[in-house]
Formats: sequence, structure tokens, C-alpha cells
Amino acid sequence: MDRILIDTDPGVDDALAILLAMKSPELRVEAITTVSGNVHVEQATQNLLTILGLLELSAYPIIAKGEAHPLVKPLVKAEHVHGEDGLGNISKLRNFDGSLRYPLAHCEISTLSGFDLILEMVDRYPDELVVVALGPLTNISKAIRKDAKRMQRLQSIVLMGGVFREYGNVTTTAEFNVFVDPHAAHDVFNSGIPVHIAPLDVTHQVVLTGERLNAEIEGRSDKISCFLKESTQACMEFYREHIGFYGLHIHDALPIGMLTHPDFFESVDAYVQVETEGNLTSGMTVADLRRERQRPIPNASVCVKVDSDAFLNHFFQRVLS
Ligand code: RIB
Ligand code: CA
Repeated sequence: MDRILIDTDPGVDDALAILLAMKSPELRVEAITTVSGNVHVEQATQNLLTILGLLELSAYPIIAKGEAHPLVKPLVKAEHVHGEDGLGNISKLRNFDGSLRYPLAHCEISTLSGFDLILEMVDRYPDELVVVALGPLTNISKAIRKDAKRMQRLQSIVLMGGVFREYGNVTTTAEFNVFVDPHAAHDVFNSGIPVHIAPLDVTHQVVLTGERLNAEIEGRSDKISCFLKESTQACMEFYREHIGFYGLHIHDALPIGMLTHPDFFESVDAYVQVETEGNLTSGMTVADLRRERQRPIPNASVCVKVDSDAFLNHFFQRVLS
């Protein structure tokens, strides 16, 4: 069983990842920290409470609101992809009696900052805790900058981010999470903490089409099925218009699967660096993934392949269970 802390900017695909993690018996979600990315951290924290409100929980992970701004760059968000509220605008949906269609979970928000909660959880579970980073890496970088020695007791960081042998999804060369805060990503890759990366190269291999989603939830009226349908619509429309199919990539769910079902995935060790200053290339992740080129010493394991059918079947089997 892995004890994990999820750092997230929900975000439609973050929501799918959080639901998958919370329904994975192999994982114990000890804490969740939020960060500005897809939406501002205030909205991201509200969205997290909406997502947790879908689950009938007797106890919740510890939650802390993290950083509102990247270390150096101005904040770039992605409401055009995820909807104004970051969850497909479902926060506006009401029942006939005017109550929220998706009420928030009644759970406390810690008074700690995101990076202080990360450090606190490392102290509580030394050499055991895994940080699963699903947004810009600002909180994790600030924890490293505050106390790099304590952060060495993290078992590992599993993150969705970067792109190596494909185009970026924000600029030609950069993936969103690394593009938003390249300085934070630089700190993570040079921290000496074991890092496992799920870049666009592998997350693009898993496509959730509207057709598949409709087939999976047909005849169901449970809350999670309704949420999957309603929260993904805006994102799927964006994909139809700009990417060319009605569906979406469930980017952030892959790091969860890498922890619970590593046999679905294939990775290579590599030496990964991040461009922090380039005009055209800011946020670009740079690595030579050729197996014979293992020099200099690898600082990360880069996931390059997934059994997408097996993973998608697993996703639905778990999330709709
Ligand atoms: O590039 C995809 C990543 O950026 C995902 O984490 C998505 O949620 C956005 O944050
Ligand atoms: Ca995300």
C-alpha cells in the first residue's frame, strides 16, 4: 500500500485522477494540496471539495491550499479547456429546489500552506510518502527550497508533465504543467528525489471518447456517472473544435495507474532538464530517451508506453465501482 499526497489544480482530468486514487485500495491518500494552474488556487480548492463531495467518506485526506502564483513566471491558466470554473461549469448546476447539484464535502482546510503540509507529511511518513503531482510544481519546489534535506525523505515524486518526442500542448515545445512553472520543474528534476514522469508522449496514448463515456454510463444515474458526463462536456467540446475528436485525454489519471498497476506501463531512465529562459522554448523538457544514451546519470524515469485499453478498462471499473 502506498501512502500518497496528491498535489493538484483541478481541472477535469485532475478530478478523474482524484476519483481513481480515492477508489484504489492500493493507495492511501493521506493529503491533498492545491495549486494555481488550470484555474486559480481558490477555485481549485473549491473544486477539490466538490470532487470529494461525490464520495461518501467517513474521513477525508488532510487538505491545504497551496501557491497562487508560479515562482517567477506570470500565472497562465486553462479555463478555455476546463471551463470557467475548471470543472466544466458544473458548479453553476442547481437542483429544482435551488440546492447545488454537486454539494461540497464538509471538510476542514488546514491552516498550513501547501508546501508546509508536504513537509509535515514527509516527516510523518519518512521514506514512505509518494507525492503525486498533477499540476504546476510550485508547491513541491517551495517545499524543496524551504528544506531540501527533509524532502530527501520523500520516497518519490510521480508527476504528469513534460513532453519529449511530440509537440507541446501550450506552445510548440512545452506541456502545460511545466510551462506554467518551469523554475519549479527545474528544482524538482535537480532535487535528487526519485522522479517518475508521465509526459504527453504517454498520456496522449489514452483517449476517452464521448462515445466510450456514454457507453460506460448508459442507464446509470448515480452521482459519479452524472459528474463524469457533465464535468467533461466542455472539455470534450474544446477537443472537438481544436484537437479534432469529441473526447479528452485523461492525462492526470496515468500517474495514479503507474502506482497501482505498473505492469500497464513502460518507462526509460533519462537525464531530464527544463528550459526556464528561452523565448520560444520556455518550459521545454529536454532529454535523450535513446536507451543506449544513459549519460549523464539519469535523474528521472520517463514513461513512454501504456496499454491504453487495459488502463481505460481499469479506470472505468474502479471509478464506477
Ligand atoms: O498538460 C496536461 C496537464 O495540464 C494536466 O495536468 C491538466 O490538468 C493540466 O493541468
Ligand atoms: Ca492537472
